[in-house]
Amino acid sequence: MGLRIGIVGATGAVGQEALQLLELGALSIAEIRLFASVRSAGRVRSFRRETVRIEEISAERLAGLDYVFFSAGASISRQYAPAAVKGGAIVIDNSSAFRMAREIPLVVPEVNAKELGRHPGIIANPNCTAAILATAVWPLHQAAIVERIVVATYQAASGAGAKALAELDAQVRQYAAGEEIRRKVFPEQIAFNVFSHNTPVDDSGFNEEENKVAQEIRKIFGEPTLGVCATCIRVPVFRAHSEAVVLETRRKLSAEEAREILSHAPGVAVVDDRKANRFPTPLEAAGKREVLVGRLREDPSHPRALALFVSGDQLLKGAAWNAVQILELLAA
Ligand code: HSE
Repeated sequence: MGLRIGIVGATGAVGQEALQLLELGALSIAEIRLFASVRSAGRVRSFRRETVRIEEISAERLAGLDYVFFSAGASISRQYAPAAVKGGAIVIDNSSAFRMAREIPLVVPEVNAKELGRHPGIIANPNCTAAILATAVWPLHQAAIVERIVVATYQAASGAGAKALAELDAQVRQYAAGEEIRRKVFPEQIAFNVFSHNTPVDDSGFNEEENKVAQEIRKIFGEPTLGVCATCIRVPVFRAHSEAVVLETRRKLSAEEAREILSHAPGVAVVDDRKANRFPTPLEAAGKREVLVGRLREDPSHPRALALFVSGDQLLKGAAWNAVQILELLAA
């Protein structure tokens, strides 16, 4: 008997990636149901040679599914995820709605797959930046106990959605044509610019993404007191987020040892060739399931600190692939 799987937010970038991963994957799927807002209802997608009609989401339509992946934002998750669970499904939720709820596991399979055993019907998929960082840092934490993480991110425009990506594209064209550069989605011009206040900063001076990274890494690692200081920056890259990371560890870790550990770590690909001057880039990470890690070097300003650079596809390991990994583990 195959599984009955639903995707909520099927027309969004993450939903489309999830559908493609399921299509390519080995799971036995008896029925796939696609849900979106009324605007997209009625459109069709193909899945394993079948035509699937996109349905307007409703609590009734979510009944009777085995698994539902939610990728339509926190308000839709809050409104419909409980109904999907009531209707018999296990929900994997990509929004921030339940991530920090005590009873809901927040899972990166390479780190804390064991948490999947204690879910109350909903499992949270982490924020993209946190999932990528967790995958890269966890193997080093296991080897040398990470006591502090300082991270600056370089987040692709597509992380802010399809309209944001279109705005970057439009601004590049406006610049080339000598037109006035128009801005609607981002708080600053994104073409030929970077900014660290993508979302408003709170009273402590941190923006929402920075707070999510700190809180979520602590929860995923099961380390409530881990020090995390993040600066989350939007850059005019189309796809894949990069992160410059400095880790302070309890035991000194050489760059060589870290490289060796990471070369055997699940979900990680080491790209760290000093001779060839080849290191992670978002262009290379785009479309890959692994997180690329390189620029490994010992921090000369601290006796036990290591610097590294990470690029990971925020739509894959940062979202859809992480969720499909969870689904495959649950269904195994
Ligand atoms: N919060 C992330 C961002 C979304 O704004 O880039 C994950 O892609």
